[in-house]
Amino acid sequence: MKRYHPLLVSLHWILAALILFSLYTGDNILEEMSNASPEKIFVLKVHMATGLVILALMLFRLIVRLKSQLPKKIDTGNAFINKAGKYSHILLYVLVFLITISGLSTSILADLPNIFATGGALPETFENLPPRIAHGVLTKILFALVILHLSASLYHQFIRKDSLLSRMWFGKS
Ligand code: HEM
Repeated sequence: MKRYHPLLVSLHWILAALILFSLYTGDNILEEMSNASPEKIFVLKVHMATGLVILALMLFRLIVRLKSQLPKKIDTGNAFINKAGKYSHILLYVLVFLITISGLSTSILADLPNIFATGGALPETFENLPPRIAHGVLTKILFALVILHLSASLYHQFIRKDSLLSRMWFGKS
């Protein structure tokens, strides 16, 4: 078995795009926008809907991953790098779950579903809510881990030349 199951490959790249989109829009649009801005509710709706799709697809991917046959683990010849690879992937899953749960908790504490339904005004800020603080910190850690994940794949592809990226692409299994 040389590659991941095509469903796992598709979900990997769809999730990568959705997570990068949420990190970018969360940090560069949502965070910068005042809660008094008339466009904020629309941006929040898009952000929350994307986040919930990410949560559902992550759960689905985890189940498919646990049930499908995986390609053989790559041995870098260095026990520390092998372990770092394994634990950084687990941490990616944990972080994404915690981020979606803290985002959801923020929106429930701020009564957003009710505000969206009744057309009421947003609270002055979300910044004082504990899950909002956690959401901000966790997204910064996720951003750092995404950079590490990307650097590791480039290291495998161009320095170790072990075709790691082809395992996460389509083709003969
Ligand atoms: C992987 C999924 C998600 C990512 C990557 C993400 C990313 C972000 C980022 C980067 C910010 C700005 C943080 C800061 O700079 O302090 C943010 C804010 C926020 N997110 Fe998320 N988010 C995700 C999922 C969710 C979900 C599922 C919800 C709710 C259902 C949600 C609700 C919010 C709310 C209410 C804010 C506060 C906006 C503000 O303070 O103006 N997020 N998110």
